[in-house]
Amino acid sequence: MTRWNEYISENKDRFLEELTQLLSIPSISNDEGRKAQMQACAGKLIELMMQAGFDAAIIEETSHHPVVFGKKIINPDLPTVLVYGHYDVQPPDPVDLWHHDPFDPQVVDGRIVARGASDDKGQMFMHIKALEVMARTGTLPCNMKMIIEGEEEIGSPSLPEYLNNHKELLKADIILASDTAMISMEHPSIETALRGMAYMEIALAGPNRDLHSGVYGGAVANPINMLCKMIASMHDENNHITIPGFYDKVIELSKQQRHEIAKLPFDEMEYKEELGIKAVWGEKGYTTLERTGIRPTLDVNGIWGGYTGEGAKTVLPSKAFAKVSMRLVPDQQPEEIADLFKAYLQQQCPPGVTVDVKYLHGGKPVITDTKTAGYQAAVKAIKATFSKEPLQVYSGGSIPIVALFKEILGLDTVLMGFGLDNDNIHSPNEKFDLVNFYKGVETIPFFYKYFTEKRS
Ligand code: BES
Ligand code: MN
Ligand code: MN
Repeated sequence: MTRWNEYISENKDRFLEELTQLLSIPSISNDEGRKAQMQACAGKLIELMMQAGFDAAIIEETSHHPVVFGKKIINPDLPTVLVYGHYDVQPPDPVDLWHHDPFDPQVVDGRIVARGASDDKGQMFMHIKALEVMARTGTLPCNMKMIIEGEEEIGSPSLPEYLNNHKELLKADIILASDTAMISMEHPSIETALRGMAYMEIALAGPNRDLHSGVYGGAVANPINMLCKMIASMHDENNHITIPGFYDKVIELSKQQRHEIAKLPFDEMEYKEELGIKAVWGEKGYTTLERTGIRPTLDVNGIWGGYTGEGAKTVLPSKAFAKVSMRLVPDQQPEEIADLFKAYLQQQCPPGVTVDVKYLHGGKPVITDTKTAGYQAAVKAIKATFSKEPLQVYSGGSIPIVALFKEILGLDTVLMGFGLDNDNIHSPNEKFDLVNFYKGVETIPFFYKYFTEKRS
């Protein structure tokens, strides 16, 4: 048993107790009524970071939710690891489907269940505890800085400005983040790509008021019918996206790269069973892992209008709305895709309704460099604690700030995530397996060790 393991096992109950406190704060970034809870969560982090042994931890106000910044500098001549995480969470809706209050964390079957358990409070907190382990055992080999934002789930609107204004403060050699998943504990893996995003909102307007669907039905364009038709037309019979120009900048993978993906452990039967679906769906010519990893998508996230209350009410609605996200892959550019999407809807819009399209937020796709000292250190760290070489996976998710870390700070990011795909992130009953949590705390110090050895 290493000193790190000893320290972890002696303190594991306290670690869990602290994580529970963090998860009890409803830091929902898209809810304007939660500003106080966002501040409270940032405050709690400062307290936990100082207890863990940071030299300093401060709340930095931005034009929206605050950023938490902390550091422990042991010697300015040594390398610096900048850890990234986020303390904001998605709304817990639909709350009815949770087995208990999403902000009253409970340990069930060795998993902590609460909103944010895996995405990203539980994973981000592993880094605070790993710093504590190294600080208390006198084994921190280099400098550590940490930035925890409160806007990841809403597209990080104020973070680029923060990065631009704090280049000196954030000076480091590598960014390390745990906000992604592994295939499984048996098949540890590192995600080396993130998809980009263009998030859109459509508003269709028809008649100047809701109408009786008998008196006017059949003679006036129904905005919901029209919206559904326009949305449906965006995929063809091969589930290919029809927006002109959409695929122009998509880089196709080589045979060899696709072969590597095909070798990854993946059981389609299990996948379907776990999701309660009878068949998978997707773009013709691509496997499930390719569809989520290397191909772009277009999905309606929500659609509303007209009457949605109980029972029946006959109405021809005056308006219809939808929120649509497009996941992007290299080299698609979010703004360009947003423009193509807008142009397509304007061109398709039938007479009798008008369309208004807004680009809510976006982010560029990312491929991380596996040749960096940081990536190599992560591979070695995982080998040290899992006794297995990590596999390389293309993630389906997005973390828009990662591309900007490279553009603004010139830094590569290592995505050393310890979540699992079935953590129910953004879904009811989000969980984080405690074995994953403790394994993360155990693995992170190895990253520092190998990264420092390689750099100095
Ligand atoms: N941690 C996730 C992203 C993620 C999930 C990466 C799973 C890899 C595997 C992150 O918090 C997230 O949810 N991002 C949003 C970004 C969006 C709001 C711009 C997403 O992917 O929907
Ligand atoms: Mn996240
Ligand atoms: Mn998320």
